[in-house]
Amino acid sequence: MKTQALVFDAYGTLFDVYSVQAKCEEIYPGKGEDLTRLWRTKQLEYTWLRSLMGRYEDFWKVTEDSLRYSCRFLGVHPGPEQVEELMLSYLKLAAFPETGQVLEKLAGVPRAILSNGSPDMLEAVVRHNGLTDQFDHVLSVDELMIYKPHPSVYQLAVTRLGVAAKNITFVSSNGWDASGAKAFGFRVFWLNRQGSPVEELAVKPDAIIKSPLELIDAV
Ligand code: 2OP
Repeated sequence: MKTQALVFDAYGTLFDVYSVQAKCEEIYPGKGEDLTRLWRTKQLEYTWLRSLMGRYEDFWKVTEDSLRYSCRFLGVHPGPEQVEELMLSYLKLAAFPETGQVLEKLAGVPRAILSNGSPDMLEAVVRHNGLTDQFDHVLSVDELMIYKPHPSVYQLAVTRLGVAAKNITFVSSNGWDASGAKAFGFRVFWLNRQGSPVEELAVKPDAIIKSPLELIDAV
């Protein structure tokens, strides 16, 4: 089967959500790692909960809400300046080291981002990492007002790219996102950097890779 388009998840796949740890540690010494992990966990939980509740707020708001909850959980109380500083660090997440090289090598195939991120957040982090020219499309759930793994999110890529689901290769480091994309009908590569078990969600990715560099020969 020929891949006619490559669609990437953003957070955790192209951009390292744990790159905020240094800033978290600087502001809250000794709590940086716990805050970084809990912030990400609650951020995802809030996307799922808000989708189920039918109470969409964009990813910027969800990210700030999850930061505030995580700080309170860890017994710290950030003022407006700390919240702003930590939130701004989300616009400057570091791309994983191989990201630019892999995108350049795959330039013969249309490449897109499909992400929970709001359009402004995605535009900022892509630009910060000098990757603007590497994508034909940067697609956000925001216009649908529902988060992954709702099937309508994956359908957005089919509609915008004009490529059938089975001819789209979708790459995500988030196991649950890989499952959602596979259930929808994409060809799915799960980028499993940590060697985690496959999610028990009754669908398996087509391939499991440890590094995005493996995509260069596989696509
Ligand atoms: C993204 O949509 C799931 O955070 C992930 O970019």
